Amino acid sequence: MNQDWSNLKKNGWIFLNTDHIHYEWIVEAQKKLETKFHQKLFDHKDLRCGSTWFVGTNFLDNSSNGNIGTKLMSRKIFNNISKKFGNNIKYWDKGQVSICWPGYPRKDDKETIKSFNFRIKRFASHIDGIIPFGKKKRRFAKEFHAFILGFPLQNNCLESAPLVLWEGSHKIFRNFFKEIYEGITSDKISSIDITELYSECRKKVFKNCEVKKITPRFKQPYLLDRHVLHGIDAWPEKKNVKYNPKNNMLLNNLSNGRIIIYFRPVFFNPHDWINME
Ligand SMILES: [Fe+2]
Repeated sequence: MNQDWSNLKKNGWIFLNTDHIHYEWIVEAQKKLETKFHQKLFDHKDLRCGSTWFVGTNFLDNSSNGNIGTKLMSRKIFNNISKKFGNNIKYWDKGQVSICWPGYPRKDDKETIKSFNFRIKRFASHIDGIIPFGKKKRRFAKEFHAFILGFPLQNNCLESAPLVLWEGSHKIFRNFFKEIYEGITSDKISSIDITELYSECRKKVFKNCEVKKITPRFKQPYLLDRHVLHGIDAWPEKKNVKYNPKNNMLLNNLSNGRIIIYFRPVFFNPHDWINME
């Protein structure tokens, strides 16, 4: 069945059709992750928010077409996406493995109170690829993703740090990017400081768009518009159950974690990132 993309256009996200191959793929992905954690092949710097979040950027060892070893990425997902995004995508990146635990988010020593409050109140909302630099966190468009593809692996419930997004925010941000980069050549786009305008645009979204929590049933994959504002909701701890992932070590707690794998293939041309509908 061909994918119906209407909710992506209207609200900035969509659940994807899938097949049994996908479920074999995620079992394989889970095995590979467990092995990597057993062998301690992870960077402690990836544990953030008082060790309640493993960021896991490019942690999954998949090939450039999304396969893991001999396990193929679902052709149904792959073909439906290829039909929509064509040949404008460079390569399939290595998947991010985002894991949260009960108690997310805790305040890190490194995190400012302002930034922690933003994490609590606004779910640390952001547009992927708009990267903050330096102490003053000046923001620039540095990565030109075609979309964000999420594969839920385990514990994806309403209370366990779900993905949060602002429906319709992709239209506001797309218009904003079209305006600020109008007439700018591809090689200059990433050197333009957009800090204040980006922050204004985000405020406009908070005022005008509804928050949606994405809680997939049966581990159904989903795809986000590259310009949709999103973040991670909290995972409140149960009363009298104090959770301490740091002391028990990550591996022992893997089964308690909320795990999502994200892919963000990039466009060849930054102008596709700005303009493509
Ligand atoms: Fe993100």
